[in-house]
Amino acid sequence: MEELKRKAAYKAVKEIRDGMIVGLGTGSTTKYAILKLGEMVKNGLDVVGIATSLESERIAREAGIKVADINDYESIDVTIDGADQVDNNLNLIKGGGGALLREKIVASCSKREIIVVDESKIVSSFSFPLPVEVVKFGWKRTAEKLAKLNLKPHIRHGFVTDNGNYILDCEYDKLENVEEMEAEINNLPGVVENGLFIGLTSEVIVGKKDGIEIMRKK
Ligand code: A5P
Repeated sequence: MEELKRKAAYKAVKEIRDGMIVGLGTGSTTKYAILKLGEMVKNGLDVVGIATSLESERIAREAGIKVADINDYESIDVTIDGADQVDNNLNLIKGGGGALLREKIVASCSKREIIVVDESKIVSSFSFPLPVEVVKFGWKRTAEKLAKLNLKPHIRHGFVTDNGNYILDCEYDKLENVEEMEAEINNLPGVVENGLFIGLTSEVIVGKKDGIEIMRKK
């Protein structure tokens, strides 16, 4: 599995050019991309990274990549990020690592969002519990509202996001009408963001046992 993640990540960093502002995703697959980018920087590549989590910022800085504040850049040239599941329309579930809010902000400011995954993440319909970031105040009440949308929320025990919030991991029987669902969840008081990434992906690089597949937006 690690080899498949690495393959996808290495393919993605080939898209990075001198002078680019690069979004740095979060997770074990993206980590391979950040470390590779660090090697390229040591060999003279000049890029600025925008991190999607404190952990990615730390890894990037240790690898020798300059990391800047997203407020100082109006747009990001390319972001490389992972996903928990990818469907056939290149919609995603993200947030398994709890970084979904910053990841979605960065994705929404990126000219190109490249997702790197191993082949086990590609699905015809979502099944991964949907992470929802909620403010601490009244989180149980927010969970009840999520349950009314036919979700079964579970608090992620002992976890606080980089933004000081909680994560509710929501199970479901079937996740349908994902565009509407994304908006409905975010409309609930107490919800900060949810892990449905709809229409934000430019391409998905899939590390497979027999090579690499690139899924593109139709
Ligand atoms: C972080 O919150 C997530 O969105 C990650 O991008 C996702 O969980 C993928 O992580 P892995 O590459 O470790 O599976």
